[in-house]
Amino acid sequence: MIILKTPEQIEKMKKAGEILADCHRHIATMIKPGVTTLEIDQFVEGFLAERGAHPEQKGYHGYPFATCASVNDVICHGFPSNEPLKDGDIVTIDMVVKLDGWLADSAWSYPVGNISEEAQHLLDVTKKSLYLGIEQAVVGNRIGDISHAIQSYAESENLSVVRHFVGHAIGENMHEEPQVPHYGPPHRGTRLKEGMVITIEPMLNIGTYKCKIDADGWTARTMDGKWSAQYEHTLAITKDGPVILTEQ
Ligand code: MF3
Ligand code: CO
Repeated sequence: MIILKTPEQIEKMKKAGEILADCHRHIATMIKPGVTTLEIDQFVEGFLAERGAHPEQKGYHGYPFATCASVNDVICHGFPSNEPLKDGDIVTIDMVVKLDGWLADSAWSYPVGNISEEAQHLLDVTKKSLYLGIEQAVVGNRIGDISHAIQSYAESENLSVVRHFVGHAIGENMHEEPQVPHYGPPHRGTRLKEGMVITIEPMLNIGTYKCKIDADGWTARTMDGKWSAQYEHTLAITKDGPVILTEQ
């Protein structure tokens, strides 16, 4: 079932989104060689608590942390850890913020110190693919138009699109219908309507799109060990076009 949101409800999600975006802006200043992702996770807990917001991922299907911290070949759902980030790494921090019962979801990949040209290309193309997807999120288009825009651009840049994890509608629940794949043919799938709120969250890989899950049951890595990046926004579909609720 698709749950459309009223402008008032979207306004509430925007408030959650503003806190989330602000949190990412702070994280951006913390990321450097030597910092641990557990320190970042603890910072996020404090940051949200001070603002009366809740880290929705913590306890979700048993997930143990406020954030996911996915380093290098980890695609998503990495556990924050005590291992310091190293110069040249890339790390994706993903979180879902609840404020007053309404959610916003945003992931961002960050370079640690000086990164390789190949890693920078991965970050640049993944971020641009998110915005190309968002451009397609207009009333009357279909989900497949978003998917196709992302896949065709990613593949034209010699990157692969993860299949196993997809975007989703969001509201009072983290995962609502419909799903938003980042691959697939245009002009297919659910037609976009005013009041839908969705995430678009492409995960692009340098090598194969295939993944494997670690023994912890969460950490998703590329099969070939090559690196992966992800950028995610929550956006509302309005008659005036897509409105990003998590813009930094
Ligand atoms: N924020 C992510 C998403 O887009 C991941 C949630 S998984 C969790 O759905 F279990 F950690 F919450
Ligand atoms: Co999401």
